[in-house]
Amino acid sequence: MSLPPLILGIESSCDDSAAAILRGRDILASVVKGQNALHEAYGGVVPEIAARAHAERLDYCVEQAMQQAGLEYDALDAIAVTAGPGLIGGVLSGVMLAKGLAAGLGKPLIGVNHLAGHALTPRLTDNLDFPYLMLLVSGGHCQFLIVRGPEDFTRVGGTIDDAPGEAFDKTARILGLPQPGGPSVEAEAGNGDEKRFRFPRPLLDREGCDMSFSGLKTAILRQRDSLIAEQGGLHIQDRADICAGFQAAVRDVLTEKTRRAISVYLDEAPGTPAMAVAGGVAANTVLRNALTGLCAEMGLSFSAPPLALCTDNAAMIAHAGAELFAMGIEHDMTLAARPRWPLDQSAVPLVGSGKKGAKA
Ligand code: KG4
Ligand code: ZN
Repeated sequence: MSLPPLILGIESSCDDSAAAILRGRDILASVVKGQNALHEAYGGVVPEIAARAHAERLDYCVEQAMQQAGLEYDALDAIAVTAGPGLIGGVLSGVMLAKGLAAGLGKPLIGVNHLAGHALTPRLTDNLDFPYLMLLVSGGHCQFLIVRGPEDFTRVGGTIDDAPGEAFDKTARILGLPQPGGPSVEAEAGNGDEKRFRFPRPLLDREGCDMSFSGLKTAILRQRDSLIAEQGGLHIQDRADICAGFQAAVRDVLTEKTRRAISVYLDEAPGTPAMAVAGGVAANTVLRNALTGLCAEMGLSFSAPPLALCTDNAAMIAHAGAELFAMGIEHDMTLAARPRWPLDQSAVPLVGSGKKGAKA
């Protein structure tokens, strides 16, 4: 039996420069170089700084991945690269590098949608069969997708403004906690009482699976300012309680909307219904536990990829590329970098624009 193809994946759509090498479901190498330190002082990702850093670092990531895998470039069967959506300068850096490698080595080039990379990850980690329900929840994205094939996605709802990761990051900034906000807010919340402050659960009273998170930051800001006005400052316990209340609000909105998305999915359900999460916020233990319980209650299996494959990485791009390659899909030197590229072209476009780039 012949071996599955050897695929190099390249990712540079936001603030992580990454390269990985995959053979089938074996990750032979995965290198991720983050840029937190470069953007820290600005309170968000600066597109020009990100693009320059990708241009400087991506080829080293590829070189390092090849070394880790102990491979010569000639052994590669194809080169997969994120061609969007994302910050255009960064996406261009990756696409240009991939084109150069593909042309120089005479290997096939495959342009991959970054969101498809996230959405197909449970097939890499858990060998999930189509169709499954995916909650993609990160710093730039939040949507429910019914995943029917490598290029077949139906969006059944999503955020109409901020992504939950953005809300975690803004909450951390308001409370003086380090970035990225997700892990620091989660750690603080561990010492807090989620019942002390009741923050809004937007759109729960409205039908459907759409969500809104932008109002939460205003509520957090108001709570912080009113405590400061009353007491002259914030106690450590106040901060922990605000974090716990905030995290509970995000958990409740995501869990209730997931319940509705599951019902939509089950209406056309396969024999063995499955749900999976991906994206940085999927690392949140409180959210994972709530979703695990919900899926058990509604009779679905639940997959949450390991953290390193939830956040941005190139193994997911190599995997999505491998799925397209198996379908005979290849691109030529006209492959374009796309800042916007919705997975479900038929869905109504989402409004708003996250700090990590346009939402798709
Ligand atoms: O998927 P990702 O690495 O990048 C994109 O946004 O595409 O996600 C990063 C986001 C950040 O906003 C970060 O604060 C959030 O994921 N995050 C978390 C946790 N870990 C990372 N949010 C909540 N709880 C966490 N433990
Ligand atoms: Zn991502």
